Amino acid sequence: MNDNASALLVHQVPIALGDRSYLIDIGHGLLDIAPNASLPQGSSALVVSNETVAPLYLERLKKSLAPHYPRVLSVLLPDGEAYKTWESLNLIFDALLSQACDRKTVLFALGGGVVGDMTGFAAASFMRGVPFVQMPTTLLAQVDSSVGGKTAINHPLGKNMIGAFYQPQRVICDLQTISTLPERELSAGLAEVIKYGPIADMAFLDWIEQNMVALRARDPVALAHAVQRSCEIKAHVVGQDERESGLRAILNFGHTFGHAIEAGMGYGMWLHGEAVGCGMVMATRLSMRLGLVDGDFLQRITTLVEGAGLPVRAPVLDVSDNVGRYLSLMRVDKKSEAGEIKFVLIDGQGQAIVRGAPDAVVSEVIAESCAP
Ligand code: NAD
Ligand code: GLY
Repeated sequence: MNDNASALLVHQVPIALGDRSYLIDIGHGLLDIAPNASLPQGSSALVVSNETVAPLYLERLKKSLAPHYPRVLSVLLPDGEAYKTWESLNLIFDALLSQACDRKTVLFALGGGVVGDMTGFAAASFMRGVPFVQMPTTLLAQVDSSVGGKTAINHPLGKNMIGAFYQPQRVICDLQTISTLPERELSAGLAEVIKYGPIADMAFLDWIEQNMVALRARDPVALAHAVQRSCEIKAHVVGQDERESGLRAILNFGHTFGHAIEAGMGYGMWLHGEAVGCGMVMATRLSMRLGLVDGDFLQRITTLVEGAGLPVRAPVLDVSDNVGRYLSLMRVDKKSEAGEIKFVLIDGQGQAIVRGAPDAVVSEVIAESCAP
């Protein structure tokens, strides 16, 4: 993809989805896309970014896209999970329509998962679908959200409730962008890296434990491997179940509890990855309560999540009825069926199981997880 002297492509992960297949490029300096690189053809490119990422990387990306498109436009969204809304989405449509963009416009998402999810949704719906490319700049987006075609905005009653499955035509992960990521955001990304171990690959779980110090120090070799292995696992799962009719739900390990934390605290109070990190500890505790893993395994996951710089004690969402609040928030989870909450549980051997659990046991897990 990139033949600039300063840019180095270290891995390429294919995602096999028939005529919606694409490549994930992972490397250093990949924002400097070479003039002869293969990108979706179009009459214009619209780069969607936000007010934090744009000052760091927008001009560089626009410059490298200039040889590829007659027009390179941009639109900036307000930064943050609290802005993953209709209003922000409309800013993208405003930019597209006010600048006479047509069906041959290619959207580029330059930013983290919030920008990526909203750009993807805009691409899915503008003129009933235009091509888009993910250029993820957070660890979380590189290992998870930019891959697999889930796009969405939030609703006050539930996270990512309004959206579409719509695949990008390419994902370009420039690992150098991780150098400017705040510490807290790096930890949030590590939550989604950790999740791939217990659900799919125990050897990767071992590797993450052994390399946590290097990952937190942003060692380029460790980061490249974490992004590569995470993308491989995600590509394998999505390749078998693109629209989450079954298997793909395992990628939501920690998310049932985590989404309740995010919505219950108010979007943006806890980062998505922080909520997922804590949610994985809660889901492991539930797995233990149901006899799937032992206490040592719960301790192992707790230590790893804590070692990534993530919270392991769950927040109280409602002082008068905390358990009730968690349960009601989890009932609007997308995995729920006829009001029954489904959890992604783990067996401690690298496999995940998606199933319901008795309310009484879940209630105990919530109470224990929130205890001081
Ligand atoms: P984010 O997009 O809010 O980015 C985190 C913060 O880092 C923001 O303030 C952003 O402006 C800033 N930032 C981004 N890149 C930077 C850089 N290189 N240097 C400095 N600052 C930078 O959050 P996120 O963690 O990337 O993504 C979380 C979102 O992703 C959530 O909305 C979640 O629901 C979604 N998500 C989607 C999927 C999916 O499959 N579509 C999967 C996981 C998560
Ligand atoms: N992040 C969960 C999924 O892509 O399915």
